[in-house]
Amino acid sequence: RHGESLYNLENKIGGNSDLSKNGILYAKKLGIYMNKTIKNYELYCSTLIRTINTSKELTANINICKCLDEINAGICEHKTFKEVEKIYPEEFIKRKNDKLNYRYPSGESYLDLIDRLRTFVFDIENNNNIVIIVAHQAILRVIYGYFMGIKIEDIPHIKIPLHTIIELNPDTYNYNNKYIKL
Ligand code: F6P
Repeated sequence: RHGESLYNLENKIGGNSDLSKNGILYAKKLGIYMNKTIKNYELYCSTLIRTINTSKELTANINICKCLDEINAGICEHKTFKEVEKIYPEEFIKRKNDKLNYRYPSGESYLDLIDRLRTFVFDIENNNNIVIIVAHQAILRVIYGYFMGIKIEDIPHIKIPLHTIIELNPDTYNYNNKYIKL
């Protein structure tokens, strides 16, 4: 997941804010860690500033993919969750009750993300290289959920902490996972 952003500090949804001071520090640490740990890999990030700036200390060429952009929260973009609860209480409850199916007005649902990421996920599954993805909370839930075989209803609730590398390694039938906190 990208380093902490200015919107993360304020608990704001979506947007295209840059990294916070902590986020910049994480990007530096990530570059140092990755550059000494692996040599040949493919690097993917979204079109949003916070993932591009998290990736830029890595030496590989960056593939910028629109399909990796964070969930579009429509009318709720740029608001805090508290503001959403106050301004759109019905929407807030609907999402709380069914996060998987709930589609933000003028935005997306987790089901929409599963659709949007289908080709990307199949491509990386068939890629023999090491793949590094720098993306967003909802996007990484979908990708992680697919590879770890997580029940679809549980995907919107997977924990994707900041400043933590999640490493997935293919095993005979499944994937092993490892969390590396930097
Ligand atoms: O809060 C950070 C963020 O990436 C938002 O931009 C996004 O809307 C949200 O997380 C997705 O998580 P959830 O589906 O839990 O709201």
